[in-house]
Amino acid sequence: MELETDRLLLRILRQTDAPRIQLLAGHALVAATTSNIPHPYPDGAAEEFIQHVQQQYKQKTGYTFAITHKDTGLLMGVIGLGFDAANLHGEMGYWIGVDYWGNGIATEAAKRVIEFAFEALAMHRVYAGCFMNNPASGRVQEKAGMQLEGIWREHYKKNGIYIDVAYRSILQQEYAQLTTKHSPE
Ligand SMILES: CC(C)(COP(=O)(O)OP(=O)(O)OC[C@H]1O[C@@H](n2cnc3c(N)ncnc32)[C@H](O)[C@@H]1OP(=O)(O)O)[C@@H](O)C(=O)NCCC(=O)NCCS
Repeated sequence: MELETDRLLLRILRQTDAPRIQLLAGHALVAATTSNIPHPYPDGAAEEFIQHVQQQYKQKTGYTFAITHKDTGLLMGVIGLGFDAANLHGEMGYWIGVDYWGNGIATEAAKRVIEFAFEALAMHRVYAGCFMNNPASGRVQEKAGMQLEGIWREHYKKNGIYIDVAYRSILQQEYAQLTTKHSPE
């Protein structure tokens, strides 16, 4: 499966992505603000992760995409969306390789995944969390149309420190309003 944007091609991960994922996600700054990326990033972890998300994809419980440059195919990050069919909701998470930060890539990918959630999967709600010490991620979520719902206090323990997490979401009707506003007359 593939999703396109102006600059990006989001595609389902394959095992050959493992070395690149280990390299990019292995950067201390990527691990620092994520709940589930270990540092140092162990050998074999990327392969296991890819196998896991491929399984989710088969079972239709989650969609995890390589964020690649549309022209060169270069993998620059990863974005995932969970899919809970009973409640038609899912959690979105993402990371971008440090060299590519600050170019709007996470925002472009997040907007496209939200569109996929509502248009292709007919979901009702997409939500995402970010560590309170990660304003860039909060900004990505806001730019993708998500609203702050609240703070989960000391929800994650990272390197021995409890971290507050801000949760944001977008509902189907809010997405519909956004797209109506932006569509040409
Ligand atoms: C968070 C992350 C995904 C952002 O990726 P990105 O491609 O650089 O994001 P974008 O360029 O689309 O948007 C970043 C926004 O944050 C803003 N920003 C960056 N640093 C910031 C800071 N310290 N304080 C406030 N805003 C900040 C940018 O200015 C930009 O907003 P703008 O367009 O209004 O100027 C990336 O830094 C990353 O992968 N971090 C490590 C992993 C991670 O934290 N993942 C998210 C887990 S919830």
